[in-house]
Amino acid sequence: MSEEGIDDGGIEGGGDDDDGESYRQSRLVTDSEGGFDTDRARARSLPVEDGELVDTDDLADHQRYVEGRGIYDERNAVNDLTGREWKYATKSVLAEGYPPDLQHDLRSEHGGQKPPRLCAELIGRFSKADDLVLDPFAGVGGTLLGASLCEHEGSGLREAIGFERVERWIELYGEVLERENADRRARGEPPLADQELRHGDCLELVAEVDREVDLLLTDVPYWDMDEREQTRNERETRESKLGAFAAEGGPEEGSATTKEEWLETMADAFAAFEDVLAPGAHAVVFIGDMYRGSSYEFLSAELAEAIDGGTDLSLAADLIWYDPSKDLHVYGYPHAFVPSMVHQHVLVFRAG
Ligand SMILES: C[S@@+](CC[C@H](N)C(=O)[O-])C[C@H]1O[C@@H](n2cnc3c(N)ncnc32)[C@H](O)[C@@H]1O
Repeated sequence: MSEEGIDDGGIEGGGDDDDGESYRQSRLVTDSEGGFDTDRARARSLPVEDGELVDTDDLADHQRYVEGRGIYDERNAVNDLTGREWKYATKSVLAEGYPPDLQHDLRSEHGGQKPPRLCAELIGRFSKADDLVLDPFAGVGGTLLGASLCEHEGSGLREAIGFERVERWIELYGEVLERENADRRARGEPPLADQELRHGDCLELVAEVDREVDLLLTDVPYWDMDEREQTRNERETRESKLGAFAAEGGPEEGSATTKEEWLETMADAFAAFEDVLAPGAHAVVFIGDMYRGSSYEFLSAELAEAIDGGTDLSLAADLIWYDPSKDLHVYGYPHAFVPSMVHQHVLVFRAG
């Protein structure tokens, strides 16, 4: 073992010992936890693909080695990830608490905002550079900021369009971008691209989209549970800031809808959204379960069933975003087990 418990014995060859273009590695380089130490392995014997031997002479015509990232397959129709990155991206749990950056203090006025870096991570998994991303329930623009971050921290800029029916959130998105870009310029970093946030009802606005959308990434408005419950329960009051779903002919903001009505409205909305999705495109949907009264509301499962059953979109995955930085709220102690919700579901659907 060398320093930090790294077993680097058994490495053979390497750039200097070989012909300079093909490299060999006979054993994994492991870190102190037994995982593959990519940095160390790369320094010793390039290229490496998830700890496996890779000989650049053996690459097929459709494969290309990307320095520091692994092997990219030109047939990749889903994203710009190399094989190694793709493997990591198939993890069904995203266990990351994102720092309150990108003008979080401004964005938090919304109450249901998503971390732009989490959105960028998902955009990187389900789209390619230059693709078009749509968020029909855009809020203060987590998805839009994520699409812009991809230019500087991912494989390239995505164009994004958002719809939002509350004017204040659109105004706030503008303020966030202005302040963030002033900060970025002061740090000598390039500004984030300004994405388009359209004001209005998503069902009307989606009918005006005249291009194919490559990825739909959204955080749906919550089921608008009855107001009496909302004022009794602090958490639910906070969630009411998300705004009720108010499609044309649907319930007005602040009114109570049953869960069944909410599910039906969501299924109808996604049936309209799927009309603009490119074949094979993904629709990725954040949804948290909730505890209400004394029962667990499995909203993610019910929403997945409603969308899968009510549209031609088919459920491809249920990812979990686990936020380790989230505070625990203990409600039932010491009489009843009530979960502290430190996770949300990220439902992934595929267009036919
Ligand atoms: C859960 S929030 C989205 C938050 C967003 N992910 C962010 O990072 O800010 C849902 C948003 O959908 C908006 N909304 C609800 N019904 C809508 C509709 N019919 N058309 C457009 N926007 C709607 C709400 O005003 C709310 O801001």
